[in-house]
Amino acid sequence: MTPEHLTNFSKMCEEAIGIANKIDLPEFSFDKIAICGVGGSGSVGDLAADLLRYDSAMEVVVVKSYRLPAHIDENTLVFCVSYSGNTEETLRAFAEAHKRNCKIISVTSGGKLAEWSKKLNLPVILIPSGYQPRDAVPYMFLPILICLQEFGLKNFEEDLQESVDVTKKIELKPLDELAEKIKNSDVAIYGSEEFAGVIRRFKNEFNENAKITVKYDAFPELNHNEINGYERNGKQTSVILLRDKDEGDEIKVRIETTKEIFKDYIHSVHEIWPVGSSKLAKIVSYVYMASYLTAKIAELVGINRERVVFVDRLKVELKNKLNSVGKLEKNLF
Ligand code: PA5
Repeated sequence: MTPEHLTNFSKMCEEAIGIANKIDLPEFSFDKIAICGVGGSGSVGDLAADLLRYDSAMEVVVVKSYRLPAHIDENTLVFCVSYSGNTEETLRAFAEAHKRNCKIISVTSGGKLAEWSKKLNLPVILIPSGYQPRDAVPYMFLPILICLQEFGLKNFEEDLQESVDVTKKIELKPLDELAEKIKNSDVAIYGSEEFAGVIRRFKNEFNENAKITVKYDAFPELNHNEINGYERNGKQTSVILLRDKDEGDEIKVRIETTKEIFKDYIHSVHEIWPVGSSKLAKIVSYVYMASYLTAKIAELVGINRERVVFVDRLKVELKNKLNSVGKLEKNLF
């Protein structure tokens, strides 16, 4: 059974674009971009960095912790992304960005992030509530691109349309078969550095939907260290290679050669190819496939993919021990 957010995925993308188009943005000028957020919301920064890394003169800094790097200043456009709006790391980054006079835009379904943004008269993109944060990625990712388009960074219009269409074209049968083959093995996700954020997103989806830890790394770096680990303990591992028809000859030959070497040392090698021609459509199709594959594994092994008991327990315990958000609020207002 396909989870609801995947049946509605292209609709969610369209809705996300509609929400962002209605936002009245201030006239911000900036020379770098930072995207703050962790977990499901944090994937958005990774995906945006993949999209823009080789295609924009502007640096995208991905912040997945409490503190902002030293070079984030008043000339930085800072997106604070938290689905719940109550995540302490993101709220701390928000408070620090405010202190440094950064240009801030928040993306959230509510919580303190919406409340604080409104109180401080800062723009907030309010997205629908009721999803698991990881399932709401279209609502958080696409509006950021619309904002960047509005600020003149790049025109994403055609690529956004392709991304809406692309998820309808994904073949699910190969993913069902892959889920069956790897459902009980250890997993490693590897792909080109071009898709480092997508690789991490796959890893996160395996963690949160299928409830397993996975190895992940990118070519070419993994050829210089990670592969050596298989000399001793690869026999239980299924390797998933994220491929791309435009990956370039060097990466292509590296991946093919690594595949040959892997054959003698690991359980099995599998490939996933993105759909679409633009980088954005490829990223969106990968996001869809990561969700589908890992939800399928959860279904096959009979676990509830939605529960994140460890994350929830940790948040409660940290709140009791640190009360970070309460302290931040006191300092902000
Ligand atoms: O999927 C999850 O529940 C987590 O990874 C959350 O996204 C993470 O804890 C951060 O919370 P939020 O997305 O509400 O900021």
